[in-house]
Amino acid sequence: MPHKPVRKAIFPVAGLGTRFLPATKAIPKEMLPIVDSPLIQYAVDEAREAGIEQMIFVTGRCKSAIEDHFDIAFELEHTMLARGRDTSVLASSRLTPGNCVYVRQQEPLGLGHAIWCARDIIGDEPFAIFLPDEFMHGSPGCMKQMVDAYQNIGGNVISVLEVPRHAVSSYGVIAPGESRGAITEVLGLVEKPKVEDAPSNLIVSGRYILQPEVMHILEGQEKGAGGEIQLTDAMAQMLGKQPFHAVTFDGNRYDCGSKVGYIEANLAVALQRADMAEEVRAIAVNLLK
Ligand code: G1P
Repeated sequence: MPHKPVRKAIFPVAGLGTRFLPATKAIPKEMLPIVDSPLIQYAVDEAREAGIEQMIFVTGRCKSAIEDHFDIAFELEHTMLARGRDTSVLASSRLTPGNCVYVRQQEPLGLGHAIWCARDIIGDEPFAIFLPDEFMHGSPGCMKQMVDAYQNIGGNVISVLEVPRHAVSSYGVIAPGESRGAITEVLGLVEKPKVEDAPSNLIVSGRYILQPEVMHILEGQEKGAGGEIQLTDAMAQMLGKQPFHAVTFDGNRYDCGSKVGYIEANLAVALQRADMAEEVRAIAVNLLK
């Protein structure tokens, strides 16, 4: 029997973005651009490429710029057209009417809680999650690679990548089982372990395909690491009951939750863009002198 398709994605975007203050005082961190597209746009494009139809944003106060971004900017388009300007640059920022949903996470109780806020919209089907500040850059995109794997193996699929051992405490970490190519069985999951307790240096890197049962588990999930309701803890309870695999993304990952990772992402994308690579390379070489 084919596995139920992944049609819906949750984008938790309620975080305060304190690491980027004062830039994020009045704009959401997800609206910070990589060259000329906001981070959230890259995540939505990655979802579309993977065949996902419905985008569910779990937002909070002061996040209305995200809703405006994916809307029609009537005055802008009208004015540009009247001046004979090309508006195609705006095409990917328009979501299909009725296919984007915004729900609010009223209190910052953790990632698990944010996901649970979308439970009624998810209903009884598998769904994807994108953490937009994990910027996954490659072709095909990370979620497309995961959906391709999911179509064969079903169950739950998360993306993982290797980090230096000393860095594991900032992440969810897996205990790996057997591997076949890019696919690894997940035997254990722990959120933000101490370095000495970590089962590996393979971290959960912000992309998930989960079965709807995780919502029932989240309903009663106790607080975990950092006093927050953790998605990782809820996923750990599904191990052994449902298939659970990790996919190692064939592409580049930039941690845009950190300032240095954000600068790296901008530079990397700029150096791949036909319209600016040459100029940016010359500037970078000059700065490094
Ligand atoms: C979250 C998840 C963690 C994951 C990380 C990826 O942590 O809880 O499992 O490894 O994102 O960036 P956060 O960055 O919200 O602390």
